[in-house]
Amino acid sequence: MRVAWVAILSAGLLFPPLAHAADAAAAKEKAVVCSGCHGDNGISQTENIPSLAGQPDQFIQWQLVFFRAGSRKNEQMQPIAEEITNEDIRNLGAYFSQMTPPKGAEDGDPDLSKKGAQVAVGRRCASCHTDSYAGTKAVARLAGQREEYLVKALHDYKAGQRVGGGVAAMADVAYHMSDEEITAVAHYLAHLK
Ligand code: HEC
Ligand code: HEC
Repeated sequence: MRVAWVAILSAGLLFPPLAHAADAAAAKEKAVVCSGCHGDNGISQTENIPSLAGQPDQFIQWQLVFFRAGSRKNEQMQPIAEEITNEDIRNLGAYFSQMTPPKGAEDGDPDLSKKGAQVAVGRRCASCHTDSYAGTKAVARLAGQREEYLVKALHDYKAGQRVGGGVAAMADVAYHMSDEEITAVAHYLAHLK
């Protein structure tokens, strides 16, 4: 028992995982609803809807908790999050985090990407999001995310519309960014391979 708890705590999960193989099946069933918007295999084909594939388990779980609590507001996500249990959240986090992350978008503008890379270095984005921008724990994956969604998210933080858990990390970062910087860094991140 003791060993199991140590494993759970060091994994940093919100809700301890169940050991049943049935969980994968349960998550798959729940995720049918999600794929209607977030795409097959967790890769979104829809404007302003993020891909979920390869997001850190803990990040997915926290965002679902924030939507359910109403601290992160979105007309489409809130009604869905209100219907899901802690067990669903745990299963869905595991399910989407294990999917193959989106490949970077093709046909970028190299000059804009270069500018975006400079913004990312200057603002130390990788210090939290990791060098590969795959994210970790409660910090989101950014690599290969939809470009216009990254722009929207940064504007939402900047405007104080996205607060989530009340951790001011992103508000502090985004508040100081110009629209040009946001456009460039989103382009760079969306095209990362
Ligand atoms: C009706 C469309 C719709 C459905 C169905 C839906 N979502 Fe979403 N989801 C959205 C939109 C739109 C956003 C972006 C919200 C925003 O802009 O802040 C989102 C955001 C999210 C996020 C935050 C991701 C990020 O990168 O910030 C998670 C996690 C999430 N959804 C999980 C789910 C799960 C799990 C399901 C199924 C149980 C689901 N969604 C079903 C529309 C949907
Ligand atoms: C101090 C740590 C920190 C730094 C520095 C940081 N971030 Fe974040 N970022 C976070 C955390 C934590 C989250 C999740 C916040 C939440 O729950 O809403 C996040 C979320 C995001 C999201 C939302 C992703 C999604 O899928 O919803 C975007 C976009 C983002 N960061 C971009 C950036 C960019 C671009 C930079 C550099 C200009 C940056 N971040 C620097 C910690 C950081």
